[in-house]
Amino acid sequence: MKQIEEFKKEITDYSASDEKSVEEFRIKWLGTKGLVKNLMGEMKNVSDKKFYGQVINEFRQIAEAKYQELKSLTTHDSQLTTQIDLTLPGDSIPVGTRHPISLMTNRIISIFQRLGFAVAEGPEIEDDWHNFTALNLPEHHPARDMQDTFYVQQNPDWLLRTHTSNIQIREMQKGKLPIRIICPGRVYRNETVSARSHCFFHQVEGLYIDENVSFADLKQTLYFFAKEMYGSDVKIRFRPSYFPFTEPSAEMDISCMLCKGAGCNVCKKTGWLEILGSGMVHPNVLSNCGIDPNKYTGFAFGMGIERPALLKYGINDIRLFSENDVRFLKQFTSAV
Ligand code: PHE
Repeated sequence: MKQIEEFKKEITDYSASDEKSVEEFRIKWLGTKGLVKNLMGEMKNVSDKKFYGQVINEFRQIAEAKYQELKSLTTHDSQLTTQIDLTLPGDSIPVGTRHPISLMTNRIISIFQRLGFAVAEGPEIEDDWHNFTALNLPEHHPARDMQDTFYVQQNPDWLLRTHTSNIQIREMQKGKLPIRIICPGRVYRNETVSARSHCFFHQVEGLYIDENVSFADLKQTLYFFAKEMYGSDVKIRFRPSYFPFTEPSAEMDISCMLCKGAGCNVCKKTGWLEILGSGMVHPNVLSNCGIDPNKYTGFAFGMGIERPALLKYGINDIRLFSENDVRFLKQFTSAV
């Protein structure tokens, strides 16, 4: 008992300045060959085993508590005294850069947000109705051909959306009018991958539905967009076009920002660049979504992101966008 009292005192008085001396403490008292184990081994030699057991147990608890205390004190201590040197220069924190497609998408979104458009998103795996039927695409329309669309094998009613117009259908179905949304997202088409085209790419589409929305609103909105995006001296022109979901439909060109309309390789000597498709929402599309076409009208537009991004950054291969080569990606550090 005298011996144990001495041990207790030794333990209580022990102080450790670093992790090494804490470890020494552990080995001496609590290790497999430590004194606590040793004292337990004496059990077979004592007569009052119950009393001795209690004493040893209490002693072990004291040693263990001290060990925990030492451990917490020194880890804390060493952080304060040895690991922090306030005179060292700070470590730079590596941060990622935004993908050029995200930069471009965000830029387009922010222009429309200033006009009161809200961002809406939707599923990339879509059913036939939201991607085609609701958009007034008759059953045998060439755009539904297997050539263009990736169908989901397990269920031929499912497909990878070929445009972000499915989002517009889903918004219209909610029935909350007016609608003024901008819909960014990834789309898929079964096309041969090359420097100019890919089997997936990105789009931003817009939709505005209210009473008395006219083609003049469409033109003015897109003109504002073109000026904000490509500079105030940009010219725009509309060419009649065809989309099953809009009537009338138009494609919009902007004057080539590289040659200022003089004609260069990028605009194929025409002086114009085609940037988006647009039109007044077809009455069939409105009624498919439960909106009364006699009361409401609207316009829609859609544009690809890859092409403006290629132009903006002078990139010549669309595949670079999806290869995730950091040497490519880290060049896009600033906002567009
Ligand atoms: N959804 C069309 C496409 O992907 C783009 C578009 C949207 C055209 C809205 C007109 C109106 O090609």
